[in-house]
Amino acid sequence: MEIRVKQGSITDERVDLIVVNLFQGVTEPGGATGSVDAALDAAVRDVIAAGDFTGRAGETLLLYTHSALPAARVLIVGLGEPGKFGPAAARNAAATSVRKARDLGARTIASVVHGAGAGGLATEAAAQMLAEGTLLGTYRFQGYRSTVPHDWKPNPDTFTVVEANAQRVAACETGVARGVAIATGVLLARDMVNEPANHMTPAMVAGLATELAAELGLTVQVLDQEQMAALGMGILLAVATASEQPPRFVILEHNAGREDLPVVVLAGKGVTFDSGGISIKQSEDMWRMKSDMAGGAAVIGAMAVAARLDLSLHVVGLVPLAENLPGGRAQKPGDVFTGMTGKTMEVISTDAEGRMLLADTVAYAGRFKPAAVVDIATLTGAQAVALGPQAAAFFANDEDLAAKLVAAAEASGERLWRMPLYEEYAEAVKSQVADVKNSTGRTAGIGTSAKFIEHFTEGYPWAHIDMASMAWSDEDKPAQPKGATGYGVRLFTALLEGWGRK
Ligand code: BES
Ligand code: MN
Ligand code: ZN
Repeated sequence: MEIRVKQGSITDERVDLIVVNLFQGVTEPGGATGSVDAALDAAVRDVIAAGDFTGRAGETLLLYTHSALPAARVLIVGLGEPGKFGPAAARNAAATSVRKARDLGARTIASVVHGAGAGGLATEAAAQMLAEGTLLGTYRFQGYRSTVPHDWKPNPDTFTVVEANAQRVAACETGVARGVAIATGVLLARDMVNEPANHMTPAMVAGLATELAAELGLTVQVLDQEQMAALGMGILLAVATASEQPPRFVILEHNAGREDLPVVVLAGKGVTFDSGGISIKQSEDMWRMKSDMAGGAAVIGAMAVAARLDLSLHVVGLVPLAENLPGGRAQKPGDVFTGMTGKTMEVISTDAEGRMLLADTVAYAGRFKPAAVVDIATLTGAQAVALGPQAAAFFANDEDLAAKLVAAAEASGERLWRMPLYEEYAEAVKSQVADVKNSTGRTAGIGTSAKFIEHFTEGYPWAHIDMASMAWSDEDKPAQPKGATGYGVRLFTALLEGWGRK
């Protein structure tokens, strides 16, 4: 879908459907909605007066113009209570209206920006939310069906953002460009996570990252098993030994070699399928473990956004990729492996594989002399039990980095909740035969996994995000259809964009 910006009056647009909005409680609509009402002989005020449309968030009203306007249909989207309005509400209003327009078979749509007037959003932010909501809401995974489902209407071809005020057009253009760049990164992550594991193998992920780098001017390096072995990544490699799919280690860089810029490393768990290995998972819902590379997908999506927005930081994206299967060469509980730092680890559960990948990944991150390292992973079922799909958990060994993450979560709407890194957890991860062990039983399952990863960090500010509950959604939300969510891309974008700010 093409999104363009145009100066003019929405009532002049000759398209299949125009979109305007209404806050809850408004009885005398102004602005573009007022113009539509005037053109339609007070039809909007009549519907409001009858109580048939209240402007609640998620509510839409469809009106026919009977040739009073060049567009045959007008959709009015509710923006909810003004006191509860913000960027998320603007994004959702855009998603709700474009999905409704698609259901109606509209192929050309024109819309005003939501919330830049009475809503109090800056024009640029409102335009960004309009683009984000439009693209995130109409996302569908194409998949491998031999026929298109009968209820799938095609996505609109063009979406025109119409701004009446000539002074605001430039801000609309900037906002739309930002929204498109960010949403494109989210959609890439969703596609990668929705793909079945027999297609989205470690080599395939690495191939996609390589293509993306060529397209966007990122620097890329892909390490194979031998190169990882030469680096001493014995803990990471232990996860991959039973699979016929060879592991990969992706290193993406934006602004590589710019020594004047601070280095921020993003590291994402890339387990393309997690069967649990010898400590095998129960088969019910095991298919969903194709989403166990969602952290890696978030990092790749965020690298794409960093390149498209040309952020002024040296950003490094690290994605360790492996498939966790049982087999004759598989790692076993009780095995001991040595990682890149020389520290040793005992396997208690082969299903605690994510922290094994991350152990050697955060160790590798040290060579960039980073200002910060943030890893992200679908790491523990315990995180999902603790927070549910409402928020990811995070841990940080540095207050400034923690504050930056809290601010990024707030700005992006991708929620985070901080958890403690108690010293006592270090005791729990001690092993009888090695420096640490990869599982400690049910108590403090999230905290001990974070402590395990911290053990392999090398003196830089570090944070760990456990997004186990956030990768996949069973619920259909306006800007987030069922399935892979693309969680993390917007969060990382906000983190990187806010880096210089205090
Ligand atoms: N990938 C899983 C965590 C997970 C579970 C993500 C459910 C999303 C939904 C991870 O590798 C895992 O298996 N973790 C184990 C760790 C345990 C063995 C210490 C868990 O949480 O049960
Ligand atoms: Mn596992
Ligand atoms: Zn896993």
